[in-house]
Amino acid sequence: MRLPNRVKMVEVGPRDGLQNEARPVPVAVKVELIDRLSRTGLTVIESGSFVSPKWVPQMASTAEVMAAIARRPGIAYPVLTPNMQGLEAALAAGMEEVAVFAAASETFSRRNINCSIAESLERFAPVIEAARAGGLRVRGYVSCVLGCPYEGAIAPAAVVEVASRLAALGCYEISLGDTVGVGTPLQAQAVVEAVSARLPVEMLAAHFHDTYGQALANLLAAMEKGVAVVDSSVAGLGGCPYARGAAGNVASEDVLYMLNGMGIATGIDLGMLIEAGDFISAALERPSGSKVARARGG
Ligand code: HMG
Ligand code: MG
Repeated sequence: MRLPNRVKMVEVGPRDGLQNEARPVPVAVKVELIDRLSRTGLTVIESGSFVSPKWVPQMASTAEVMAAIARRPGIAYPVLTPNMQGLEAALAAGMEEVAVFAAASETFSRRNINCSIAESLERFAPVIEAARAGGLRVRGYVSCVLGCPYEGAIAPAAVVEVASRLAALGCYEISLGDTVGVGTPLQAQAVVEAVSARLPVEMLAAHFHDTYGQALANLLAAMEKGVAVVDSSVAGLGGCPYARGAAGNVASEDVLYMLNGMGIATGIDLGMLIEAGDFISAALERPSGSKVARARGG
């Protein structure tokens, strides 16, 4: 099996995870979570979204959170920016990295960002251009790459199209999201192969949710095809407000345990990551969604 020697883990818990919480999570708790994650060795911590507070109330505190965290050199703290209004807020907050998010499914695009895929790409073009002109890096997401909660199966060609367009607009990395966690390993490989026929595989990240318990298997399958960037969520937090039943991203602790066991370097301390996950699970008053954390007594 050909696997990467090193994997970059992109922590998305403070954003993808917490965006789905029904009860407001206090700013102080979000800040403490991000600061704890910053001490684990992670180099990317997605920390919030500048989106409409009517659509995703939980992320309304992003500016306050970003002002209060202890930003460490060498760590990127990206935030989601769906439009120019979001980018302006990100610039005002002194962000160095933002992310735009498109979908491979028309219906999901409309439910999530209230426009078609084509309109979203038109909307992102000036956002990406202005971000890059301001010296910011831009990540691109494609949601529903292995299935859509509204449309069912999604053709890999649709994923290739959106991923290529985002790359052409200037995104440095394209995160392929199994938003509803329905995919299985050979499907994950097929989509990675299809996209990497058009884009360098080094640009691709796997963003897999664990709704059907397939995420680690899918990740290993994607890594076999050369993917070396993995999105995950501490304590398995989250879901997506526009994808009913979507569980959290695969738990970061479980991904790290698997990578450690295979001798793949990440630079991240498992004990400290488990502690960060235990902190947020206690704050949310529920057991951790990480099997590794639970096995270690969290
Ligand atoms: P819209 O209603 O079409 O936007 O929403 P609009 O431009 O017509 O504006 C409507 C109102 O929203 C206005 O306020 C704007 O000011 C406000 P009003 O005049 O009514 O008081 N507004 C904003 N406020 C703050 N920040 C902004 C902003 N933009 C407009 N940036 C919009 C379109 C895209 C804004 C909306 O649909 C939205 O915010 N969607 C966000 C959805 C979201 O965050 N989803 C979760 C993230 S995606 C995800 O989780 C998947 C991912 O993890 C990958 C995967 O798992 O597959 C990335
Ligand atoms: Mg997600």
